[in-house]
Amino acid sequence: MDLFEYQARDLFAKHGVPVLAGEVIDTPDAARAATERLGGKSVVKAQVKVGGRGKAGGVKLATSPDDAVEKAGQILGLDIKGHTVHKVMIAETAPEIAEEYYVSYLLDRTNRTFLAMASVEGGMDIEEVAATKPEALAKIPVDANEGVTPEKAAEIVAAAKFPAEVADQVADILVTLWKTFIAEDALLVEVNPLAKVADGRVLALDGKVSLDANADFRQPGHEALEDKDAANPLEAAAKAKNLNYVKLDGEVGIIGNGAGLVMSTLDVVAYAGEAHDGVKPANFLDIGGGASAEVMANGLEIILGDPDVKSVFVNVFGGITACDEVANGIVQALELLKAKGEDVTKPLVVRLDGNNAELGRKILSDANHPLVQRVDTMDGAADKAAELAAAAAK
Ligand SMILES: Nc1ncnc2c1ncn2[C@@H]1O[C@H](COP(=O)(O)OP(=O)(O)OP(=O)(O)O)[C@@H](O)[C@H]1O
Ligand SMILES: [Mg+2]
Repeated sequence: MDLFEYQARDLFAKHGVPVLAGEVIDTPDAARAATERLGGKSVVKAQVKVGGRGKAGGVKLATSPDDAVEKAGQILGLDIKGHTVHKVMIAETAPEIAEEYYVSYLLDRTNRTFLAMASVEGGMDIEEVAATKPEALAKIPVDANEGVTPEKAAEIVAAAKFPAEVADQVADILVTLWKTFIAEDALLVEVNPLAKVADGRVLALDGKVSLDANADFRQPGHEALEDKDAANPLEAAAKAKNLNYVKLDGEVGIIGNGAGLVMSTLDVVAYAGEAHDGVKPANFLDIGGGASAEVMANGLEIILGDPDVKSVFVNVFGGITACDEVANGIVQALELLKAKGEDVTKPLVVRLDGNNAELGRKILSDANHPLVQRVDTMDGAADKAAELAAAAAK
């Protein structure tokens, strides 16, 4: 989960990374009091989860409380690369900025390690620096067990050639930033710019943090950081039912058991769809190994509740949970939904293979549900589901 800048600022403050005061607001008028609290001037900053805000007109200096109201009015509602600004942060104005640096930690999956990146050429053009002057961006692997000790921080400072007068401050910040990274179970923490200001202090003026959702179970505080307004309602409903669901923009609802099988089902349906008006998968949904009738019913309920879905492809390879159990699950799920008053009206194509496939197929045939069709090959079933979706969309 990516955080807004103001949330990153709060986490930095909590762990001792030096930041300036800031508060988040969502109406222009609120900028007045917030700016008064900061002594009469402020920086008005768009809160959107996309980079390049400054260049898009999303970061403006306000010289008075009234000016802050005007600037907030200009920025609220602005579209920045497809993200509408609903909130702005009213930030304390930094003393004159002398230099802008860049520091970050991230999980480097390719090299199976953590990585520190640092540059003395930070600021709004860091992407450009990374692309055209890679030698100006130091990259130092960080051992997960050792972490960033003061010695490691000194190594990063030396590699990025930070000036001597800020070396100690930057090293301290690198240690506290690492604490933030570990304590919050982050995948990325980035400070750009890390600014040296006129009075000699080094401050984090902008932060990006991405948290690891796999650690949610031990980070109860992170739920409050979710942007509930932006969440897709189907994804939110699926999450509440503990389902592994991702909304996509096609017409064929997909249910399968096992992430690998579901991924390949998406490919096969996308391919089959090319011959049927270009229909595409409407979602990813992995109901996992031991899928009960209840889990099947929950999955079907989410998928059938998606107005974009025109047909559903249930693709199951029986393993520990055998096909007869899955077939019974499907039959019971349809009854459960009917009992809840959510009668199924969209066609279902079911492919069962693997453990006890014959018995599973027989159960489906015997149930003889008018909307359920059995197709016993994956390609054939994908083609049928795509054909039905295309027909229903007409
Ligand atoms: N509190 C502040 N006081 C003074 N100047 C600031 C402050 N915050 C940001 N700035 C200036 O504005 C520039 C852009 O701000 P910031 O880094 O937050 O946005 P950005 O880099 O455009 O956004 P993003 O990081 O999302 O791409 C900074 O490089 C800095 O020069
Ligand atoms: Mg920035």
